[in-house]
Amino acid sequence: MKFLNEEELKKVIEKKKLSSYSDEILNQLNEVIKQNLNLILKSYKNKEKLAKSNSEKDSIPFLDAYPDYNLSQLPSWVRENINEAIVVGSSKKVVQINDGRKYHLDNSLNDLSGQEWTFFTCSVINTRYPTQGKEGYAHHIRKVHPSPKPPQLTKEIISFFTKENEWVLDYFMGVGGTLLGASLCNRRAIGIDLNGFYIEKYKEAAKALNLDLQHTIQGDAIEILANKQSLISDILKGEKVSLVLIDPPYGDMMSRKKTGEAIKKKQDSSATPFTDSPKDLGNMEAADFYKNLKNSVQNSLKFLKKGGHVVIFIKDIQPKGKQLNLLHADLIYLINEIDELYYLGTKIWADHSVNLFPYGYPFSYVSNQIHQYILIFKKKT
Ligand SMILES: C[S@@+](CC[C@H](N)C(=O)[O-])C[C@H]1O[C@@H](n2cnc3c(N)ncnc32)[C@H](O)[C@@H]1O
Repeated sequence: MKFLNEEELKKVIEKKKLSSYSDEILNQLNEVIKQNLNLILKSYKNKEKLAKSNSEKDSIPFLDAYPDYNLSQLPSWVRENINEAIVVGSSKKVVQINDGRKYHLDNSLNDLSGQEWTFFTCSVINTRYPTQGKEGYAHHIRKVHPSPKPPQLTKEIISFFTKENEWVLDYFMGVGGTLLGASLCNRRAIGIDLNGFYIEKYKEAAKALNLDLQHTIQGDAIEILANKQSLISDILKGEKVSLVLIDPPYGDMMSRKKTGEAIKKKQDSSATPFTDSPKDLGNMEAADFYKNLKNSVQNSLKFLKKGGHVVIFIKDIQPKGKQLNLLHADLIYLINEIDELYYLGTKIWADHSVNLFPYGYPFSYVSNQIHQYILIFKKKT
């Protein structure tokens, strides 16, 4: 079975001067479509099944079922469609709007529909975010940083762990991947970075994207969280953050004897130093890095509401001899030692926009690490 309009595709291939591979490319595309088609068909079958189980006779208009409901508690996408919304299912706790999206009235974590919630809980997220044009989210400004996080990705994370207008704290903000993501989904955020130049670049990016400017503080996050907490609490004015989302710096610390020895490794885009300051976690040897990171998380809990989440990006360092360098595993154990937190799981982010290099070729296996770990912890209620 052929799914593609061959003529048009051949023109695209011709333009790329790959005509001699035309048949192979078309066959591969057909295969991809076939495989994905099955998945898509399956998801629609499920959708149909669900729709049937919530048959019309069980449903009542939301405003009839809950005439006195405080509508401000509902996500904006439900509120905006409330006149046509219905309550479905036997629990009478699920409200469905006219495009089929459903929201559970007991959802105390986020504003997502049931389907979006389930989608996010997949343990792997594959992306190929563009770095140019509108979809690049001002990457041309943010690329002064060696490892800026895509705002589209942080938006997904923030949208899962917060509700609209809630607070997010990122005390290693860099050029503001988290802060931009927060603005994209209408959350409030506070960012801290040692390097004022990165903060300025974040502001430039936010302006270029016409996004609300979030709060920023320049300084040593370790010191601020331990001894200058009013810098943060003055912004929060008695409120708490719902999410601490951090992307800590680290260098080739496993092999480093003392601080300040960091050397940028060309093959690793997350290499540090981000600054030449000894306060930069990326310039610390392993023991100090772990100690400071753990203390910072512990101290950030003062600002995190009960039941709030701490989410940490981390990437492993390549193994060296018998040295495993499994930073993600080390961090899970370390952060789990904090009494008030418990570990919920890990999401793996596979970034397919990363170029592959023939590391090790032709002698040995060296992994092209295109994935990072997103570690998820929850504060006890
Ligand atoms: C991996 S980067 C974060 C990148 C960020 N997620 C983004 O989207 O741009 C880590 C950042 O932590 C900052 N940093 C390192 N040590 C710090 C410290 N002690 N206090 C505050 N910021 C620090 C570095 O300057 C760097 O920008």
